[in-house]
Amino acid sequence: MVEPFLELDSVDKDFGSIRAIHDLSLQIPAGEVTAIIGPNGAGKTTLFNLLTGKFGPTAGQISFRGERIDGRPPHEIVEMGLARSYQITNFFPELTALENVRLAAQARYSGFAPQNFVSHYTDLDEPLEIAYDVLQRLELESIANEVASTLSHGQQRHLEIGIALAVAPDVLLMDEPTAGMSPDETGETKELIQELADDLTLVIVEHDMEVVMEVADNIAVINRGSLLATGSPQDIQSNEAVQKAYLGGGAR
Ligand SMILES: Nc1ncnc2c1ncn2[C@@H]1O[C@H](COP(=O)(O)OP(=O)(O)OP(=O)(O)O)[C@@H](O)[C@H]1O
Ligand SMILES: [Mg+2]
Repeated sequence: MVEPFLELDSVDKDFGSIRAIHDLSLQIPAGEVTAIIGPNGAGKTTLFNLLTGKFGPTAGQISFRGERIDGRPPHEIVEMGLARSYQITNFFPELTALENVRLAAQARYSGFAPQNFVSHYTDLDEPLEIAYDVLQRLELESIANEVASTLSHGQQRHLEIGIALAVAPDVLLMDEPTAGMSPDETGETKELIQELADDLTLVIVEHDMEVVMEVADNIAVINRGSLLATGSPQDIQSNEAVQKAYLGGGAR
C-alpha cells in the first residue's frame, strides 16, 4: 500500500457559529497537481490555512507523510516541506525582488525567527544563490534588483511564488495564482504551474476553469465546507452535482 501523502481525516473548522469546513476527508497524492475548486466562501482558503497551520482544526486530523501536522505551528510545517503562496499578494513592497526571495531562503538557515531574518544578511552566500536560482526559474532575473512595489501585478504574483519556492518545499499550495491577471499573464502562470509540477506536488485553488482543466491531475470540489466530488478533470466536468453547485453558475 502506498503511504498517504497529504491527508485530511474528518476535519471540521468552526469560526464561532460558522462551520467553514465540515467533515472533510481528502487525500492529496504526491507528485501530482490537485486543484481545489468551489464557489466563493466554500472554504478553500480555510482549507489552506488548516494545511499550513495558520489555524488548527476544530475536529479531525491532518497528516503529512504519515505524521500529524494539525496543531503544529506554521514554521514547523514549512520545515517539513509544505509551503504556500497567498490569495492576496504578500511580500515586502519596499524591498527588491531579490531581497524578498533571499529573505525567504535565509529563513531556512535561521530557524524562521523574524529577529534572525536580517542578522547574517551579508554573510550567507547560499541564500543569495538560492534566490538567484528561484528568480531564474520564474524568469524574473531581469527584474531582480527592482523594488517589488514597482513590478507588474503578474510579476508580483510570480515573485510571491518565488518566496514560497525559496524554502525548497516538496509541496506548494497556491491560492488563486491567476487572480487579477491579464490573459497573457494567466497563460504564463499556467505554463509556470506546469513546469513546477515536474518536481513538486502542487495544490492549487483556482477559479479559472480553463487553467484548472489543463493543469490538474485531480480535482476536489468543495461546497459549503464539504467535499462535493473528487476525480479527474473529465470526471468533474461531467459530474451533475458539480455542474449544479459550481460550474453551471457560480464560477467566476
Ligand atoms: N478568519 C476567519 N474568521 C471568521 N470567518 C472566517 C475566517 N476565514 C474564513 N471565514 C469564513 O469561512 C467561510 C469560508 O471562507 P474561505 O475564505 O475559506 O472561502 P473560499 O472558498 O476561499 O472563498 P473565495 O473563493 O471567495 O476565496 C466563509 O463563510 C468565511 O466568511
Ligand atoms: Mg479563498
